[in-house]
Amino acid sequence: MAGGPVISTIHSMADVWDAYRHELDGVEDRVRKNLDSSVTLVNTVAAHILSGGGKRIRPLLLLLSARLCGYSDKDHHQLGSLVEFIHTATLLHDDVVDDADIRRGRRTARKVWGNQISILVGDYLYTKAMCLVVEFHSQGINEVLAEACKKMAEGEVLQLYYNGNPAMPEIDYIKIVEHKTAGLIAAACRMGAILADASEAQQEALFRFGQYLGIAFQVADDTLDYTANGESLGKTIGQDLRQGKATLPLLHLLQQCSEQDGRMIKDRMETRTLSTADLERILFLMTEYGSITYAMDRARTYIAAAKHELDRFEDCTARRALAVAADYMITRDR
Ligand code: IPE
Ligand code: IPE
Ligand code: MG
Ligand code: MG
Repeated sequence: MAGGPVISTIHSMADVWDAYRHELDGVEDRVRKNLDSSVTLVNTVAAHILSGGGKRIRPLLLLLSARLCGYSDKDHHQLGSLVEFIHTATLLHDDVVDDADIRRGRRTARKVWGNQISILVGDYLYTKAMCLVVEFHSQGINEVLAEACKKMAEGEVLQLYYNGNPAMPEIDYIKIVEHKTAGLIAAACRMGAILADASEAQQEALFRFGQYLGIAFQVADDTLDYTANGESLGKTIGQDLRQGKATLPLLHLLQQCSEQDGRMIKDRMETRTLSTADLERILFLMTEYGSITYAMDRARTYIAAAKHELDRFEDCTARRALAVAADYMITRDR
């Protein structure tokens, strides 16, 4: 489907998934074919997480960006699969760093095979993606992807630096989020534009679009860590605080709440213990003090800025799909 003239029956995210199902099947096909290590344990571990039902939002954004810029070929299937490989690598590593037990509704790879295997298969997926991306013979794509990977590592390290610190400045929270999450999403959008030979101005616009989207996406993720239903989210609720991670809703709450409640929260961060009752209390306080609303308002502002970037493109199916996907980044429940 070309980005082309408007034939839009795209109103909801379900419409987007439907309209681009065929394209995403092409990405899925490449994901399977690229998992071809002669070491079968590598394939087994990678397949465990890759077939666990991820949303594939990054390949979707890449292909929509390519279509928006008039791309009509099929290389985005392969490039989208490589972005998903890198995303998956970060999840394997992240679940070790965060001591996570559940991901995509399944036991994490580290729970099944241990931390060492999880880290090494993550390394494999990173490097396999790098091996395959050079086959595009595009300096631009290589640079954008390598930069995104570097930024992700920096973001995760900065996050660790602040671990257990309830006084992290909000500006550093945004820096973490921008590095660890938005960088890859922005890169996916820009690579779509590069595939389409788009102008530098269009590439820049889609990069910024992805960056705003990515920040909002992580802010929503950090809010869902308190508000979501664990089953639909496919992850354990309350895991951020349990791991000593202060995220936007919690930073807001700590500024607003009573000293006594603040002490309780800091204690849980320090001791890394969080009962269901604690979590309920904190969620209650977050609702009372408007912390959830505050975080989601911030996320909405970033989404509005992202959509503004789309104004420089002509109206077409892909642009409408990107606008719908932008809203979905913060309205999703998983
Ligand atoms: C999870 O990403 C990690 C974050 C950046 C919040 P996704 O929410 O895209 O995870 P999957 O791929 O759909 O499981
Ligand atoms: C996102 O942060 C991790 C990466 C970008 C690798 P989180 O730690 O919040 O992601 P989840 O919640 O575990 O998916
Ligand atoms: Mg995590
Ligand atoms: Mg999270």
